[in-house]
Amino acid sequence: MKVVCLFGSPKSKGNSAFLAQRFCAAAEAKGAEVETFSLNELTYRGCQACMACKRKHDRCVLEDDLGPVLNAVRQTDVLVLASPVYYGEVTSQMKGFIDRTFSFLTPEFKTNPQNMSRLAAGKSLVFIQVQTADDESSFNDIFPRYAPFFKWFGFADHHLIRACGVPNPGDVKDKEEVLKQVEETASVLFG
Ligand SMILES: Cc1cc2nc3c(=O)[nH]c(=O)nc-3n(C[C@H](O)[C@H](O)[C@H](O)COP(=O)(O)O)c2cc1C
Repeated sequence: MKVVCLFGSPKSKGNSAFLAQRFCAAAEAKGAEVETFSLNELTYRGCQACMACKRKHDRCVLEDDLGPVLNAVRQTDVLVLASPVYYGEVTSQMKGFIDRTFSFLTPEFKTNPQNMSRLAAGKSLVFIQVQTADDESSFNDIFPRYAPFFKWFGFADHHLIRACGVPNPGDVKDKEEVLKQVEETASVLFG
């Protein structure tokens, strides 16, 4: 099984990276092949709405550092998106990636629900969200807003892992329930 993991935080030793790395280590221990990308280290633009991916091309025509990321996502079995909450959203680094997934949709995605996605069906999504606010109801709207689009791409199952009340790097190490959930999610996906 292939795993592609995108780090959405600028902090390489932050809370979201810690959880994502922990998940990836568990996946590797169970035999998965893991590829990671730190979005903050890449140079790329958001979707330019050029519609080239809906007219002459079957992929995004922008030539920047996100091209290899989008290609890796096309080929993976499991996609891990890890982001802190910034102003009630994923980081701009992560949102830039998400907008570019427009290239995964077929030209007829609006009219033909049977053929919306250029990706092979059956992938799994693991969405890791961390935040300072310790109330779980704060920012619980983020994942439900994005999940339907990943359903369009053909992702069959979604796994949400959240750590709330973690303002500083390393705080998540004390969240035993969350760490357990990371291990359990890896067990569900990789046996
Ligand atoms: C620009 C910025 C905006 C933030 N906005 C929020 C927010 O809206 N709600 C919240 O709970 N935490 C917010 N935070 C705090 C981070 O989500 C929190 O520190 C998180 O643990 C950082 O994750 P990381 O260590 O993976 O980078 C914000 C932090 C920054 C730098």
